[in-house]
Amino acid sequence: MTRIGPGSPCGKLLRRYWQPVGLTDEMNGPRPVKPVRIMGENLVLFRGGNRYGLIERQCAHRGADLAYGRLEDGGLRCSFHGWLFDVNGKCLQTPAEPTGSRLCEHIKLRAYPVQEKSGILFAYLGEGEAPAFPHFDAFVAPSEYTFAFKGYWDCNWLQALEVGIDPAHASWLHKFFEDEDPSASYGRQFRGVPSDAQIPISKVLREFDRPEIRVEKTDYGMRLQTLRKLSDAQTHIRVTNILFPQAFVIPMNAEMTISQWHVPVDDTGCYWYSIFTSFGAPVDKDTMRNQRLKTYPAPDYKPIFGRNNGWGFDVEQQRTQTFTGMGFDINIHDQWACESQGPIADRTKENLGTTDKGIVLYRRLLVDAIKKSEAGERPMMVLDPAKASELKGPPAIDGIGPTPNMDQYWKEADEKRRRQAAWAA
Ligand code: FES
Ligand SMILES: [Fe+2]
Repeated sequence: MTRIGPGSPCGKLLRRYWQPVGLTDEMNGPRPVKPVRIMGENLVLFRGGNRYGLIERQCAHRGADLAYGRLEDGGLRCSFHGWLFDVNGKCLQTPAEPTGSRLCEHIKLRAYPVQEKSGILFAYLGEGEAPAFPHFDAFVAPSEYTFAFKGYWDCNWLQALEVGIDPAHASWLHKFFEDEDPSASYGRQFRGVPSDAQIPISKVLREFDRPEIRVEKTDYGMRLQTLRKLSDAQTHIRVTNILFPQAFVIPMNAEMTISQWHVPVDDTGCYWYSIFTSFGAPVDKDTMRNQRLKTYPAPDYKPIFGRNNGWGFDVEQQRTQTFTGMGFDINIHDQWACESQGPIADRTKENLGTTDKGIVLYRRLLVDAIKKSEAGERPMMVLDPAKASELKGPPAIDGIGPTPNMDQYWKEADEKRRRQAAWAA
């Protein structure tokens, strides 16, 4: 499940889906060229004319690094002998060869199609035709209502994904001993107020720390319901999802959701890519970006805290302010939880509990999809356009409702938010 290099069973499966390879933010500068390592392959992403290309990083001539190439004449020109490649990897010129040479006609680098969706550039690295994009909220919301960001974690992609289907940890790992003024919570997770509620989410998580978790398989992956019974009258619910194979969709607050992919760089590193989708006001992208660049600075989006500095661990803070002692950015908490398991978590040593039922179901789905892919069958979520247009939402709710009617509550909360949205959600 963890190994994703070319030819590995899970690597072959993941190559059947569109994978995030960059942010459009990264391509907005004066030189839109960026080396990309994904699933153990070294590639270079660039914009030639108004199209994006993702091609092998080593030049087809004598293997120099195209990430240092020149962006000109509608393609990427190698700095060694000037060979020019277009977004399809086709060699257009070999200018040092004699006039009239037809050498370039036979030369082509491996190239993958790229599509932009809501601030993320997705590439298809698989064989055959690429699947269609489902009509999920994160893909269909207008650009003013989405914001995309990414960050690097120094561990295998699967343990990074699994933190997103482990709802119990929010009461522990992300515990803050004091609540903040929720009006200062813009753009931050676990700091706002749930839908239909007055109390801060940080208080709900802290005081109700043994949630009831329900998991079910859906046509897009999985849905989790995490219930914290506040009283006989009121219950808090978080409805979260897996978009198979590699993304989760969770509520950030009453207004926004987060759709987050965990994309292998190789077997021991990964990037998370998030699309924040607002059902309320347009997203304040500058605020969101600046908040996140403080801990995940460009150009590599590698965190300023990590194994090398103990993830910023502070003994006094752990005693008095936060459960981890690792600051107030919950991304760093999750990063520690994943990275400190080791480069590839040894799952033979685990002792899974009741709270891990989402992880158990997900691993079953993943193993099943790998088997299907190996047998030459179509795994789940490799979609044709008709099926893709049927997949909408999914609901991702954080709210407080009437204890006897929670099943109805979250569906209505989702419908209400869609009805009130400024776009066709
Ligand atoms: S190595 Fe790239 S043009 Fe010669
Ligand atoms: Fe978390």
